[in-house]
Amino acid sequence: MGYNGAILARARARLADRRRANEEEQAGRLQRVYARLPRVAEIDGELRRQMARLAALALSRSPSAAADIEELRGRNLALQRERASLLAGAGLPEDYTDEIYHCPLCRDTGYVGAQPCECLKREYNAELTRELSGLLRDDGERFEDFRLDCYSAQPDAASGVSPRDVMGLTFSYCRDYARKFSAASPSLVFRGGPGLGKTFLSACIAREAAGRGFSVAYESAPKALAAFELQRFSRDAAEADAAAQRVRAYLGCDLMILDDLGTEMTTSFSVSALYQLVNTRLTDGRPTIISTNLDGAEIERRYGAQVASRLAGEFEHLSFAGSDIRRMRKEGGL
Ligand SMILES: Nc1ncnc2c1ncn2[C@@H]1O[C@H](COP(=O)(O)OP(=O)(O)O)[C@@H](O)[C@H]1O
Ligand SMILES: [Mg+2]
Ligand SMILES: [Zn+2]
Repeated sequence: MGYNGAILARARARLADRRRANEEEQAGRLQRVYARLPRVAEIDGELRRQMARLAALALSRSPSAAADIEELRGRNLALQRERASLLAGAGLPEDYTDEIYHCPLCRDTGYVGAQPCECLKREYNAELTRELSGLLRDDGERFEDFRLDCYSAQPDAASGVSPRDVMGLTFSYCRDYARKFSAASPSLVFRGGPGLGKTFLSACIAREAAGRGFSVAYESAPKALAAFELQRFSRDAAEADAAAQRVRAYLGCDLMILDDLGTEMTTSFSVSALYQLVNTRLTDGRPTIISTNLDGAEIERRYGAQVASRLAGEFEHLSFAGSDIRRMRKEGGL
Protein backbone atom coordinates (compact mmCIF):
# COMPACT_ATOMS: atom_id res chain seq x y z
CA MET A 1 0.00 0.00 0.00
CA GLY A 2 1.27 3.48 -0.81
CA TYR A 3 1.69 5.91 2.05
CA ASN A 4 -0.95 8.47 2.84
CA GLY A 5 0.92 11.78 3.11
CA ALA A 6 -1.05 13.33 5.96
CA ILE A 7 -0.83 10.18 8.06
CA LEU A 8 2.88 9.76 7.34
CA ALA A 9 3.41 13.36 8.46
CA ARG A 10 1.62 12.63 11.75
CA ALA A 11 3.70 9.48 12.28
CA ARG A 12 6.91 11.45 11.70
CA ALA A 13 5.70 14.18 14.04
CA ARG A 14 5.31 11.54 16.75
CA LEU A 15 8.90 10.44 16.26
CA ALA A 16 9.99 14.08 16.37
CA ASP A 17 8.10 14.51 19.67
CA ARG A 18 9.86 11.45 20.99
CA ARG A 19 13.27 12.83 19.95
CA ARG A 20 12.49 16.17 21.58
CA ALA A 21 11.38 14.52 24.82
CA ASN A 22 14.53 12.39 24.88
CA GLU A 23 16.76 15.41 24.21
CA GLU A 24 15.09 17.23 27.09
CA GLU A 25 15.54 14.22 29.33
CA GLN A 26 19.22 13.99 28.41
CA ALA A 27 19.76 17.73 29.01
CA GLY A 28 18.07 17.42 32.40
CA ARG A 29 20.29 14.50 33.37
CA LEU A 30 23.44 16.43 32.40
CA GLN A 31 22.30 19.42 34.41
CA ARG A 32 21.66 17.32 37.49
CA VAL A 33 24.99 15.51 37.15
CA TYR A 34 26.92 18.79 36.73
CA ALA A 35 25.21 20.22 39.80
CA ARG A 36 26.12 17.22 41.89
CA LEU A 37 29.52 16.43 40.39
CA PRO A 38 31.17 19.66 39.14
CA ARG A 39 34.26 17.68 38.20
CA VAL A 40 32.23 15.93 35.47
CA ALA A 41 31.45 19.32 33.90
CA GLU A 42 35.18 20.09 33.89
CA ILE A 43 35.93 16.74 32.29
CA ASP A 44 33.32 17.31 29.58
CA GLY A 45 34.86 20.71 28.80
CA GLU A 46 38.28 19.12 28.60
CA LEU A 47 37.01 16.29 26.39
CA ARG A 48 35.55 18.82 23.96
CA ARG A 49 38.85 20.70 23.79
CA GLN A 50 40.64 17.42 23.16
CA MET A 51 38.31 16.65 20.29
CA ALA A 52 39.11 19.98 18.67
CA ARG A 53 42.83 19.37 19.12
CA LEU A 54 42.51 15.90 17.70
CA ALA A 55 40.82 17.28 14.59
CA ALA A 56 43.57 19.85 14.17
CA LEU A 57 46.31 17.25 14.66
CA ALA A 58 44.75 14.91 12.15
CA LEU A 59 45.13 17.62 9.51
CA SER A 60 48.58 18.83 10.57
CA ARG A 61 51.80 17.86 8.83
CA SER A 62 53.93 18.27 11.93
CA PRO A 63 56.43 15.39 12.25
CA SER A 64 55.33 14.82 15.84
CA ALA A 65 51.60 14.63 14.93
CA ALA A 66 51.35 10.84 15.23
CA ALA A 67 53.00 10.81 18.66
CA ASP A 68 50.86 13.78 19.78
CA ILE A 69 47.70 11.96 18.74
CA GLU A 70 48.82 8.88 20.63
CA GLU A 71 49.48 10.92 23.74
CA LEU A 72 46.13 12.71 23.43
CA ARG A 73 44.33 9.41 23.07
CA GLY A 74 45.86 8.19 26.31
CA ARG A 75 44.74 11.30 28.20
CA ASN A 76 41.31 11.00 26.62
CA LEU A 77 40.88 7.44 27.87
CA ALA A 78 42.04 8.43 31.34
CA LEU A 79 39.44 11.22 31.47
CA GLN A 80 36.69 8.90 30.27
CA ARG A 81 37.59 6.42 32.98
CA GLU A 82 37.59 9.13 35.62
CA ARG A 83 34.19 10.31 34.41
CA ALA A 84 32.74 6.80 34.52
CA SER A 85 34.01 6.19 38.04
CA LEU A 86 32.61 9.54 39.25
CA LEU A 87 29.18 8.52 37.89
CA ALA A 88 29.50 5.07 39.42
CA GLY A 89 30.42 6.68 42.76
CA ALA A 90 27.15 8.60 42.61
CA GLY A 91 25.28 5.38 41.89
CA LEU A 92 24.68 6.18 38.21
CA PRO A 93 25.26 3.96 35.18
CA GLU A 94 28.18 4.79 32.90
CA ASP A 95 25.90 5.77 30.00
CA TYR A 96 23.57 7.87 32.17
CA THR A 97 24.20 11.09 30.23
CA ASP A 98 24.50 9.52 26.76
CA GLU A 99 22.08 10.19 23.95
CA ILE A 100 18.70 8.53 24.64
CA TYR A 101 16.65 6.89 21.92
CA HIS A 102 13.85 4.31 21.64
CA CYS A 103 14.91 2.73 18.39
CA PRO A 104 18.53 1.61 18.11
CA LEU A 105 18.14 1.03 14.36
CA CYS A 106 17.45 4.64 13.38
CA ARG A 107 17.99 6.57 16.64
CA ASP A 108 14.40 7.78 16.30
CA THR A 109 15.02 9.53 12.99
CA GLY A 110 12.58 7.12 11.30
CA TYR A 111 14.98 6.31 8.48
CA VAL A 112 17.87 3.95 7.94
CA GLY A 113 19.59 5.53 4.99
CA ALA A 114 16.76 6.40 2.62
CA GLN A 115 14.56 3.51 3.83
CA PRO A 116 11.77 4.05 6.36
CA CYS A 117 12.66 2.26 9.59
CA GLU A 118 10.41 -0.44 11.12
CA CYS A 119 9.58 1.94 13.99
CA LEU A 120 8.27 4.56 11.55
CA LYS A 121 6.14 1.90 9.84
CA ARG A 122 4.73 0.92 13.24
CA GLU A 123 3.90 4.55 14.04
CA TYR A 124 2.34 4.93 10.60
CA ASN A 125 0.14 1.88 11.14
CA ALA A 126 -0.89 3.13 14.56
CA GLU A 127 -1.87 6.52 13.06
CA LEU A 128 -3.78 4.81 10.28
CA THR A 129 -5.61 2.63 12.81
CA ARG A 130 -6.56 5.71 14.86
CA GLU A 131 -7.89 7.28 11.69
CA LEU A 132 -9.83 4.24 10.52
CA SER A 133 -11.10 2.62 13.65
CA GLY A 134 -13.86 4.90 14.81
CA LEU A 135 -15.30 2.05 16.86
CA LEU A 136 -12.13 1.44 18.87
CA ARG A 137 -12.27 3.21 22.23
CA ASP A 138 -9.17 3.75 24.33
CA ASP A 139 -10.58 2.03 27.39
CA GLY A 140 -12.44 -0.59 25.38
CA GLU A 141 -12.83 -4.32 25.35
CA ARG A 142 -10.05 -6.74 26.25
CA PHE A 143 -9.88 -10.50 26.12
CA GLU A 144 -9.29 -10.54 29.89
CA ASP A 145 -12.72 -8.96 30.46
CA PHE A 146 -14.57 -11.54 28.40
CA ARG A 147 -16.90 -13.55 30.65
CA LEU A 148 -17.98 -17.05 29.76
CA ASP A 149 -20.59 -17.05 32.52
CA CYS A 150 -22.65 -14.65 30.38
CA TYR A 151 -23.58 -17.73 28.35
CA SER A 152 -25.87 -20.50 29.52
CA ALA A 153 -24.36 -23.88 30.38
CA GLN A 154 -27.68 -25.57 29.54
CA PRO A 155 -27.13 -27.97 26.61
CA ASP A 156 -29.19 -27.28 23.53
CA ALA A 157 -31.90 -29.97 23.21
CA ALA A 158 -31.12 -30.74 19.59
CA SER A 159 -27.30 -30.54 19.52
CA GLY A 160 -26.47 -31.37 23.14
CA VAL A 161 -24.02 -28.45 23.12
CA SER A 162 -24.43 -25.47 25.44
CA PRO A 163 -23.95 -21.84 24.43
CA ARG A 164 -21.08 -21.74 26.91
CA ASP A 165 -19.35 -24.62 25.09
CA VAL A 166 -19.77 -22.84 21.77
CA MET A 167 -18.55 -19.53 23.13
CA GLY A 168 -15.60 -21.14 24.89
CA LEU A 169 -14.37 -22.37 21.52
CA THR A 170 -15.14 -19.10 19.78
CA PHE A 171 -13.35 -17.14 22.48
CA SER A 172 -10.16 -19.21 22.41
CA TYR A 173 -10.14 -19.19 18.63
CA CYS A 174 -10.34 -15.38 18.64
CA ARG A 175 -7.64 -14.93 21.28
CA ASP A 176 -5.33 -17.25 19.41
CA TYR A 177 -6.13 -15.52 16.13
CA ALA A 178 -5.25 -12.11 17.59
CA ARG A 179 -1.99 -13.31 19.13
CA LYS A 180 -0.81 -14.92 15.93
CA PHE A 181 -2.37 -12.45 13.52
CA SER A 182 -0.45 -12.02 10.24
CA ALA A 183 -1.16 -11.49 6.55
CA ALA A 184 -1.51 -15.27 6.34
CA SER A 185 -4.40 -15.36 8.83
CA PRO A 186 -7.76 -16.46 7.42
CA SER A 187 -10.74 -14.15 6.94
CA LEU A 188 -13.59 -14.72 9.41
CA VAL A 189 -17.35 -14.43 9.61
CA PHE A 190 -18.83 -13.92 13.10
CA ARG A 191 -22.42 -15.10 13.00
CA GLY A 192 -25.05 -14.82 15.68
CA GLY A 193 -27.96 -12.82 17.03
CA PRO A 194 -27.70 -9.43 18.71
CA GLY A 195 -25.96 -8.97 22.04
CA LEU A 196 -23.79 -12.10 21.90
CA GLY A 197 -20.36 -10.47 21.93
CA LYS A 198 -19.51 -10.19 18.22
CA THR A 199 -18.55 -6.54 18.50
CA PHE A 200 -16.82 -7.24 21.81
CA LEU A 201 -14.54 -9.96 20.43
CA SER A 202 -13.82 -8.19 17.16
CA ALA A 203 -12.76 -5.11 19.16
CA CYS A 204 -10.42 -7.31 21.21
CA ILE A 205 -8.85 -8.62 18.02
CA ALA A 206 -8.59 -5.11 16.56
CA ARG A 207 -6.86 -3.79 19.64
CA GLU A 208 -4.40 -6.65 19.90
CA ALA A 209 -3.47 -6.63 16.20
CA ALA A 210 -3.09 -2.83 16.27
CA GLY A 211 -0.94 -3.13 19.39
CA ARG A 212 1.33 -5.50 17.52
CA GLY A 213 1.91 -2.89 14.81
CA PHE A 214 -0.64 -3.89 12.17
CA SER A 215 -2.87 -1.30 10.51
CA VAL A 216 -6.46 -2.07 11.40
CA ALA A 217 -9.68 -0.56 10.06
CA TYR A 218 -12.55 -1.33 12.41
CA GLU A 219 -15.76 0.19 11.17
CA SER A 220 -19.48 -0.48 11.02
CA ALA A 221 -20.75 -1.74 7.67
CA PRO A 222 -23.05 1.27 7.16
CA LYS A 223 -20.18 3.70 7.62
CA ALA A 224 -17.59 1.74 5.64
CA LEU A 225 -19.89 1.09 2.69
CA ALA A 226 -21.02 4.73 2.71
CA ALA A 227 -17.43 5.74 1.99
CA PHE A 228 -17.54 3.79 -1.28
CA GLU A 229 -20.68 5.65 -2.21
CA LEU A 230 -19.35 9.08 -1.24
CA GLN A 231 -16.13 8.68 -3.19
CA ARG A 232 -18.24 8.07 -6.26
CA PHE A 233 -21.24 10.32 -5.84
CA SER A 234 -20.41 13.16 -3.47
CA ARG A 235 -20.68 16.57 -5.13
CA ASP A 236 -18.33 18.00 -2.55
CA ALA A 237 -14.81 17.47 -3.90
CA ALA A 238 -13.15 17.50 -0.47
CA GLU A 239 -15.67 14.99 0.86
CA ALA A 240 -15.20 12.73 -2.16
CA ASP A 241 -11.46 12.95 -1.73
CA ALA A 242 -11.56 12.04 1.96
CA ALA A 243 -13.89 9.13 1.16
CA ALA A 244 -11.55 7.90 -1.58
CA GLN A 245 -8.69 7.88 0.91
CA ARG A 246 -10.74 5.87 3.37
CA VAL A 247 -11.69 3.39 0.67
CA ARG A 248 -8.05 2.95 -0.32
CA ALA A 249 -7.21 2.32 3.32
CA TYR A 250 -10.09 -0.16 3.78
CA LEU A 251 -8.79 -2.08 0.79
CA GLY A 252 -5.15 -1.90 1.78
CA CYS A 253 -4.92 -2.10 5.58
CA ASP A 254 -3.59 -5.25 7.23
CA LEU A 255 -6.89 -6.13 8.91
CA MET A 256 -10.36 -4.85 8.03
CA ILE A 257 -13.18 -5.48 10.48
CA LEU A 258 -16.62 -4.82 9.09
CA ASP A 259 -19.04 -4.76 11.98
CA ASP A 260 -22.77 -5.44 11.74
CA LEU A 261 -23.09 -6.32 8.10
CA GLY A 262 -26.78 -6.24 7.20
CA THR A 263 -27.67 -3.14 9.19
CA GLU A 264 -26.82 -0.82 6.30
CA MET A 265 -29.36 0.16 3.70
CA THR A 266 -28.86 -2.35 0.92
CA THR A 267 -28.68 -0.87 -2.55
CA SER A 268 -27.16 -2.20 -5.74
CA PHE A 269 -24.31 0.17 -5.01
CA SER A 270 -23.63 -1.10 -1.50
CA VAL A 271 -23.76 -4.66 -2.82
CA SER A 272 -21.09 -3.97 -5.40
CA ALA A 273 -19.01 -2.05 -2.84
CA LEU A 274 -19.13 -5.04 -0.50
CA TYR A 275 -18.10 -7.35 -3.32
CA GLN A 276 -15.21 -5.07 -4.23
CA LEU A 277 -14.05 -4.94 -0.62
CA VAL A 278 -14.29 -8.68 0.00
CA ASN A 279 -12.87 -9.68 -3.35
CA THR A 280 -9.97 -7.22 -3.45
CA ARG A 281 -8.83 -8.15 0.02
CA LEU A 282 -9.08 -11.88 -0.67
CA THR A 283 -7.16 -11.49 -3.92
CA ASP A 284 -4.45 -9.42 -2.24
CA GLY A 285 -4.24 -11.85 0.67
CA ARG A 286 -5.41 -9.44 3.37
CA PRO A 287 -7.64 -10.80 6.15
CA THR A 288 -11.13 -9.40 6.76
CA ILE A 289 -13.51 -10.05 9.67
CA ILE A 290 -17.22 -9.59 9.06
CA SER A 291 -19.76 -9.76 11.86
CA THR A 292 -23.42 -10.21 11.05
CA ASN A 293 -26.82 -11.37 12.26
CA LEU A 294 -27.57 -12.78 8.82
CA ASP A 295 -27.30 -16.46 7.98
CA GLY A 296 -26.00 -17.82 4.68
CA ALA A 297 -29.38 -17.77 2.93
CA GLU A 298 -30.06 -14.16 3.95
CA ILE A 299 -26.60 -13.13 2.80
CA GLU A 300 -27.22 -14.67 -0.58
CA ARG A 301 -30.60 -12.98 -0.85
CA ARG A 302 -29.24 -9.54 0.06
CA TYR A 303 -25.82 -9.55 -1.53
CA GLY A 304 -26.13 -12.13 -4.30
CA ALA A 305 -24.41 -15.40 -5.11
CA GLN A 306 -20.95 -13.92 -5.69
CA VAL A 307 -20.57 -12.44 -2.21
CA ALA A 308 -22.33 -15.41 -0.60
CA SER A 309 -20.04 -17.94 -2.24
CA ARG A 310 -16.93 -15.96 -1.26
CA LEU A 311 -18.06 -15.86 2.35
CA ALA A 312 -19.10 -19.51 2.36
CA GLY A 313 -16.01 -20.82 0.63
CA GLU A 314 -13.13 -18.59 1.68
CA PHE A 315 -13.96 -17.35 5.18
CA GLU A 316 -13.83 -19.34 8.39
CA HIS A 317 -17.11 -19.22 10.30
CA LEU A 318 -17.45 -18.69 14.03
CA SER A 319 -20.76 -19.14 15.82
CA PHE A 320 -22.02 -16.88 18.58
CA ALA A 321 -24.65 -18.53 20.78
CA GLY A 322 -26.67 -17.66 23.88
CA SER A 323 -29.17 -15.00 24.90
CA ASP A 324 -28.82 -11.29 24.35
CA ILE A 325 -26.32 -10.09 26.96
CA ARG A 326 -27.24 -6.45 26.45
CA ARG A 327 -30.85 -7.21 27.35
CA MET A 328 -29.96 -9.45 30.30
CA ARG A 329 -27.82 -6.64 31.69
CA LYS A 330 -30.69 -4.17 31.36
CA GLU A 331 -33.01 -6.56 33.12
CA GLY A 332 -30.50 -6.97 35.93
CA GLY A 333 -29.72 -10.62 35.19
CA LEU A 334 -25.94 -10.05 34.94
N1 LIG B 1 -18.59 -12.45 27.03
C1 LIG B 1 -18.85 -11.22 27.46
N2 LIG B 1 -18.39 -10.81 28.63
C2 LIG B 1 -18.70 -9.59 29.11
N3 LIG B 1 -19.45 -8.69 28.42
C3 LIG B 1 -19.93 -9.03 27.23
C4 LIG B 1 -19.64 -10.30 26.68
N4 LIG B 1 -20.24 -10.37 25.47
C5 LIG B 1 -20.84 -9.20 25.28
N5 LIG B 1 -20.69 -8.38 26.32
C6 LIG B 1 -21.26 -7.05 26.46
O1 LIG B 1 -22.63 -7.16 26.06
C7 LIG B 1 -23.01 -6.11 25.21
C8 LIG B 1 -23.39 -6.63 23.84
O2 LIG B 1 -22.25 -7.25 23.19
P1 LIG B 1 -21.86 -6.94 21.68
O3 LIG B 1 -20.47 -7.40 21.46
O4 LIG B 1 -22.13 -5.52 21.35
O5 LIG B 1 -22.88 -7.89 20.92
P2 LIG B 1 -23.13 -8.06 19.36
O6 LIG B 1 -22.10 -7.29 18.62
O7 LIG B 1 -23.02 -9.55 19.14
O8 LIG B 1 -24.52 -7.58 19.11
C9 LIG B 1 -21.84 -5.16 25.18
O9 LIG B 1 -22.00 -4.18 26.17
C10 LIG B 1 -20.66 -6.05 25.52
O10 LIG B 1 -19.62 -5.32 26.11
MG1 LIG C 1 -22.38 -5.64 17.35
ZN1 LIG D 1 13.65 3.12 14.01
